[in-house]
Amino acid sequence: MKKYKVGVIGATGMVGQRFVSLLENHPWFELTVVAASARSAGKPYGEVVKNRWMMATPIPEQAAALTIMNASEDIAAIAEKVDFVFCAVDMKKEEIQALEEAYAKAECPVVSNNSAHRWTPDVPMVVPEINPEHIKIIPWQRQRLGTKRGFIAVKSNCSLQSYVPALHPLREKYGLTKALVCTYQAISGAGKNFTTWPEMVDNVIPYIGGEEEKSEREPMKLWGRIEDGKIVNADWPSITAQCLRVPVSDGHMAAVFMSFDRKPSEEEIIETWKGFSGRAQQLELPSAPKQFLHYFTEPDRPQTRTERNLENGMAVSIGRLRPDTQYDYKFVCLSHNTLRGAAGGAVLLAELLCAEGYMD
Ligand SMILES: NC(=O)c1ccc[n+]([C@@H]2O[C@H](COP(=O)([O-])OP(=O)(O)OC[C@H]3O[C@@H](n4cnc5c(N)ncnc54)[C@H](OP(=O)(O)O)[C@@H]3O)[C@@H](O)[C@H]2O)c1
Repeated sequence: MKKYKVGVIGATGMVGQRFVSLLENHPWFELTVVAASARSAGKPYGEVVKNRWMMATPIPEQAAALTIMNASEDIAAIAEKVDFVFCAVDMKKEEIQALEEAYAKAECPVVSNNSAHRWTPDVPMVVPEINPEHIKIIPWQRQRLGTKRGFIAVKSNCSLQSYVPALHPLREKYGLTKALVCTYQAISGAGKNFTTWPEMVDNVIPYIGGEEEKSEREPMKLWGRIEDGKIVNADWPSITAQCLRVPVSDGHMAAVFMSFDRKPSEEEIIETWKGFSGRAQQLELPSAPKQFLHYFTEPDRPQTRTERNLENGMAVSIGRLRPDTQYDYKFVCLSHNTLRGAAGGAVLLAELLCAEGYMD
């Protein structure tokens, strides 16, 4: 496999740092460009992030030596140096949309962590185990953008990365009709830790702006289908969500209730979870977990601290499946929000795009 040269746009931020860490020693990808705002541009990466490095592992040496480029002004120069970029920036939605399109139009594919293009109808929003076929929309998007190579692909929101994978293999098999979801979300999802957000110590905030809408709507695009160059959303099941911010550093948990047209037994559900694998496993992508869905039988699992890093933070942990009095069943599930839910999910998507020939 050839090594792809990659850039990280927004490399100084929380998600950007995750990308930089994940790219160290990646078998297919080599980090050659880091870019951020004009505030950081022109300075060595190591110097800019040394007082704001939030990862558990040290700043990779090779990244520390790179000079930060200007994400908005150096687009052509960056496109020359890389095969594609990851993007995770904190800017206004319209600015992010324009920035990502500018990279795509410079013939530099963009794998984005941002939400700005998630609802653009010809931009695939992909979880490689769930809807890998949506990348087939890319030729239509290239036609609209007038590009040969350039395109934008995005990952979905971190809140749904635990419960949509758990619901997915049950959805068609047993006719999932509805789901009620309460999420308990870590503070790193807001780009914060306990030092930068001390108000979160010993506290729960029952509001995360825009999160409930994303948690209810985005699954419908993931379960949608390509029709005439657009992704048409699924119209079932109905999902209702409530999202809370809890005092946890990393790891989003969800309590889920679900009902079916053809109610399976508990054993059938657990067997379906255990037996499920997707395109990422078939292709043996480097970041794919060997087992995507892990079911725990202990009544007090999964727990955030013991399970969030399962399979390098790329697997989903499930437990406490039991009958419910108002829905058919209820369970809990957990995923790492900045690994599977953010940078790790985007790296896996980029691996899928490489393996399927979209980055050549
Ligand atoms: N944190 C998560 O778990 C998570 C999960 C899913 C999605 N997201 C999304 O990922 C994106 C980044 O989140 P984050 O938590 O990493 O944010 P962050 O820590 O605030 O980092 C923001 C990054 O954007 C750069 N930036 C800001 N203004 C810019 C500009 N005008 N031009 C170019 N670059 C600019 C910053 O560069 P400077 O350092 O130079 O200012 C920094 O690299 C956001 O869209 C967020 O919604 C985050």
